[in-house]
Amino acid sequence: MKSLLFSRFLLLLPWVLIVIIVLDIDSSRAPLPGRAPRGGGGGSGEPRSAAARPPPQRRPEAALPTIYAITPTYSRPVQKAELTRLANTFRQVARLHWILVEDAAARSELVTRFVAGAGLPCTHLHVPTPRRYKRPGLPRATEQRNAGLAWLRQRHQHLPPPQPGVLFFADDDNTYSLELFQEMRTTRKVSVWPVGLVGGRRYERPVVENGKVVGWYTGWRADRPFAIDMAGFAVSLQVILSHPKAVFKRRGSQPGMQESDFLKQITTVEELEPKANNCTKVLVWHTRTEKVNLANEPKYHLDTVTIEV
Ligand code: UGA
Ligand code: MN
Repeated sequence: MKSLLFSRFLLLLPWVLIVIIVLDIDSSRAPLPGRAPRGGGGGSGEPRSAAARPPPQRRPEAALPTIYAITPTYSRPVQKAELTRLANTFRQVARLHWILVEDAAARSELVTRFVAGAGLPCTHLHVPTPRRYKRPGLPRATEQRNAGLAWLRQRHQHLPPPQPGVLFFADDDNTYSLELFQEMRTTRKVSVWPVGLVGGRRYERPVVENGKVVGWYTGWRADRPFAIDMAGFAVSLQVILSHPKAVFKRRGSQPGMQESDFLKQITTVEELEPKANNCTKVLVWHTRTEKVNLANEPKYHLDTVTIEV
């Protein structure tokens, strides 16, 4: 009788052990605090990130002001490469919302596909530059930046303040350090910083004395009221909303004056907030991609497959 009980016990023992082990593995799989997945917007006005709300552990990030980056972009052989570099940077920035504005009469398939897989909250807009403005020497991307501004105002106008947010204009060919985003995140009204490789010099910068901007170090058109490149400033969302008429203008705008014409409408030099260690660090570069050589590209499609580049 005793040996029968004992043999039953021996028979059951391994099964009991297996059940204990399985239960143990299951409980150790409880969700770990980690990076919340970022949604990729699919060509619509709303970022997909809404579906992937950060878990409670991510609360500190939720308190950060959103950075809205308005990027004008146009179709050319290097477009996808530029956008890829940009997305690889922006994906590493917390609470960044990318507003991509195509210079086109309709959304292109290439950018639509790109946005869907970009892995960060995106809004995909489009507006064509009128043909008469597509000439060398005329300012670029005026209509596209204005479309981005209009979208931002539209989205926020019915929401009660405060709506912590910061806007900046991110051309698709520049190079942005991650530190730049930390700096601009604390913008109260309008913040400024140096830009590398611009204005015919290694860098341009606002000159700062006692924490205030008092002038500009620049090699080009020093008479500009704000001698700064588009990549050299950020504006708080509150300022954008409280100046609903501030836009980029075609009429009377001279080359290189877009930044000044815009900033004039929303701030003064005295009011500017210097970033990047009192404007002594270059955190963004006005790089320009050389025109690609397609001299050997066949006139008619020769390959056996069709590939998006
Ligand atoms: C300089 C400034 O850095 C720009 O901010 C300014 O818009 C531009 O001059 C100007 O002349 O208006 P630059 O490197 O010469 O920049 O200009 P691009 O980088 O060729 O163009 C600026 C942005 O506009 C880019 O994001 C580009 O993709 C876009 N773009 C350019 C268009 O959307 N359509 C175009 O036909 C050309
Ligand atoms: Mn450029």
